[in-house]
Amino acid sequence: MSCTTLFEQVLDPDNRANPYPLFAELRRQPVCRQEDGTYVVSTHAEIARLISDPRISSEDLPDPQKFRWTGHPITDLFVRPIRAEIRRRHQPFIFRDPPDHDRLRGLVMRAFSPERVRRMREETTDLTNELIEKFAGKARIDLVDDFSYPLPVTVICKLLGVPPEDEPQFQGWATQLATALEPNQRADAETQAKNEQCFTEISEFLRDLIAKKRDEPQDDILTDLANGSDSGDADTERMNDFDLVATAVLLLVAGHETTVNLITNSVLTLLRFPEHWQRLRDDSAIAPRLIEEMLRYEPPVQYRTRLAIADIPIAGVTIPKDAPVVLLLASGNRDPNRFADPDRFDPDRSDNRHLGFGGGLHYCVGAPLARIEAEVALVALAKRLNNPRLVEDPPPYRPGASLRGPRHLCLSFDGIA
Ligand code: HEM
Repeated sequence: MSCTTLFEQVLDPDNRANPYPLFAELRRQPVCRQEDGTYVVSTHAEIARLISDPRISSEDLPDPQKFRWTGHPITDLFVRPIRAEIRRRHQPFIFRDPPDHDRLRGLVMRAFSPERVRRMREETTDLTNELIEKFAGKARIDLVDDFSYPLPVTVICKLLGVPPEDEPQFQGWATQLATALEPNQRADAETQAKNEQCFTEISEFLRDLIAKKRDEPQDDILTDLANGSDSGDADTERMNDFDLVATAVLLLVAGHETTVNLITNSVLTLLRFPEHWQRLRDDSAIAPRLIEEMLRYEPPVQYRTRLAIADIPIAGVTIPKDAPVVLLLASGNRDPNRFADPDRFDPDRSDNRHLGFGGGLHYCVGAPLARIEAEVALVALAKRLNNPRLVEDPPPYRPGASLRGPRHLCLSFDGIA
């Protein structure tokens, strides 16, 4: 198969359960032009180079009308009501370039302090145990609906400072907005209308919440971002309200489905290789290594889209200025030139610098939090589920190719400990 049709195969939901053989074929041509002018990059060395290259922009994303495979519907939601010439200044910082990206990210990193993230471990443990208690008396659960889905959204709500009574509403918005995340899926009119309605509602809710955080500051991220620091000039020390809303929505959507998929993919993989499930049950200290290997082996974010803002010669071809570029992180993670025996799940590998959290300036802000959530969840599930079995393998997947994960993961088990 030529590499031109291979990426189309990757996007095809029929191949969602196992895209890895397609990636292996793609890697024969590390940088491959698609029919619509998109360039797909599939090898570790080339992805690692481009992800830190300032000639690759996150800001000027491909136009969904022009590029069938790489146009990005969610960016439309943020900018729809705004005049074209100031559009790009109103995207959340994942879709911005320096210097704006760095300024906004710096403010978020300060609010997302290591101390605050560490404190979330305790809350996550309580939430995890509450969810597992609900399995009592059942012989079968859907891990996605009953566990993986509610956990991260509740954690983000607590971190941002969303009042508990508004959490169900927030979860509903997160689910709806996730449908706009897939770069290659042009939403039908009904979904598009729902997304717009949802974006309006969540923006209004957040604007009210921000006002409350200014009146009555609390110990949470939104309070810190809304009030800024007292020193220095206002423009660099504080976000304007538009950036605040965009950032809060970003934290919600970037931190939700990704973590759902990490937990679900992990349980699926561990039950396929039960010796590792047993190892985790016997010794929770292996959890961090196991999670790193999971981020390499089954990464929740399979690829990211960028735009070339100059001609870029690489691996024998030249990516022309204005071409969309797909960085196929999940394929780089299985590149035999970087990882020995890459298709083997091996938590003991010594040099595991995977691309699961991206790289360069946009490296995942939530990585420490995601690691804590996954660790707490997996350790508790391994300890408390007695003899869990997969009911269906492979499970049904969500249609998305970029944020890839099961829609359901039915497990049967012999009660909880
Ligand atoms: C960026 C993966 C969890 C917030 C990224 C990127 C990846 C990623 C691959 C790079 C995007 C790019 O290069 O364009 C993941 C995975 C997660 C996870 C696999 C879970 C397992 C989280 C959580 C949060 C979060 C829990 C926050 C609550 C962000 C933000 C960015 C980001 C704000 C943008 C950073 C920037 O543009 O500078 N994530 N993420 N992520 N992630 Fe995560």
